[in-house]
Amino acid sequence: MGQKSRYSKHEKTLQIRFRLLQVENIRFQKEIVLLLKDVPPSLSLEAGVLTQKTPTSNAKGVKWWEDKGIVTKMAKVAPSILAADFSKLGSEIESVNTADYLHFDVMDGNFVPNISFGFPVLESVRKITDMPLDVHLMIDSPSRYVTEFAKSGSDIITFHVEAEGSDKIHHTIGKIHGHGKKAGLSIKPSTPAEAILPYIEIIDLVLVMTVEPGYGGQKFISEMLPKISRVRDVIESRKLCCELEVDGGINLETAKLCVNAGADVLVAGSDVFMADNKAAHIAKLQQLQK
Ligand code: DX5
Ligand code: ZN
Repeated sequence: MGQKSRYSKHEKTLQIRFRLLQVENIRFQKEIVLLLKDVPPSLSLEAGVLTQKTPTSNAKGVKWWEDKGIVTKMAKVAPSILAADFSKLGSEIESVNTADYLHFDVMDGNFVPNISFGFPVLESVRKITDMPLDVHLMIDSPSRYVTEFAKSGSDIITFHVEAEGSDKIHHTIGKIHGHGKKAGLSIKPSTPAEAILPYIEIIDLVLVMTVEPGYGGQKFISEMLPKISRVRDVIESRKLCCELEVDGGINLETAKLCVNAGADVLVAGSDVFMADNKAAHIAKLQQLQK
């Protein structure tokens, strides 16, 4: 039978068995049987692919699948190359290519005490991978460098709400979108969720830092869990498509806590790059479900 469809004249329903992999930017993985008559008008189903008819129906549509218990939401994983061995960066990136994003931490020695790498390195990374590049700017006045990071191959550009004057945050988000890139806003552990709420309807990603930004290999701050839940509640109640990412001290144990609190995207540096089998470890993180 495989992908073949069956039509019952009596029931006037079409059953389709298929593996659903992606709805907009949310991944699912489960073999399911659908009754076409059950599919709500906001969704369309053709040849085993489910699509949203309008972007605004996304949150509603996904919720419908979840409420029915038909689909299982999987976490996205973004390995941070800050923890990679830079002497063999090409093969390190290759070894994590089953992940969803590649996380690229930019530090300027001002906004954070450490200095990492910038757009020349990003340009080289762009040439060797098709993975979506998730660029985390830990730099002062990030609007100054948006154009360079966009042109160097970023897919998502996230900056810190604490690093930009409040009068410039809208402008910086607009500049990122103007380059056709997704825009993210990040908050340090001491910054409340409220700081990003005025912008949450126009951004594509919220990054809640679960360590003090600046260094890899730090211990997860569990006091951030209520903040993750708070942001998740806002995303759900306003039916937004914005992703919720966490970054710092993520391992299988802390990732589970974050996913339970509502995180969609897990940034993991040391935990992934120190694993013996990186692909298997990434798969374990991806399989975490709410
Ligand atoms: C910290 C960076 C993180 C860091 C995470 O400022 O933003 O992305 O690489 O590293 P781990 O996963 O080792 O805590
Ligand atoms: Zn980061």
